[in-house]
Amino acid sequence: MLSEKMQQALNDQINAELSSYYTYLSMSAYFTDQDLNGFAHWVRIHANEEMMHAMKLYDFVHSRRGRVLLQPIPGPTTHWGSSLDAFESALRYEQYVTGLINKLVDLAISESDHATNSFLKWFVDEQVEEESSVDLVIRDLRRVGDFGPGLFLLDRELAGRTPADTTNEAGSP
Ligand code: FEO
Repeated sequence: MLSEKMQQALNDQINAELSSYYTYLSMSAYFTDQDLNGFAHWVRIHANEEMMHAMKLYDFVHSRRGRVLLQPIPGPTTHWGSSLDAFESALRYEQYVTGLINKLVDLAISESDHATNSFLKWFVDEQVEEESSVDLVIRDLRRVGDFGPGLFLLDRELAGRTPADTTNEAGSP
């Protein structure tokens, strides 16, 4: 069984992951509007990963006989100053989420909730990958600058992103 405090914290994290989904979907719509369909594709795959994160937590709460209580999702940002601005804000957001995951781990440890602590290790590792993948695009964008053909080529490259294989992950069908 989950403690009330742990259950609330996990529900808050479900909300944060769904907010991430909403934010990245909004960003994908922004890129589509900018005729940067490769960027839009890359970010949309990222949005879907956020939904998967939320559902992993959702299933975990149920598997511990806890109660999932969904909360309102704040309206996302809908406009960014540039592609670089969008990805820099994504990196700041990922760093914020990493902080939330770390606090969840701290809580699990303080409650000697070994099952939740073990479950959260996947999220700790995932945040390293999430921050790194966004940071790589930022570095490319900084290299490209305002050089139009460079942005065109980067857009083509990002169009090649394939969804992560989640078939072996908990909560997958
Ligand atoms: Fe689920 Fe990007 O954090």
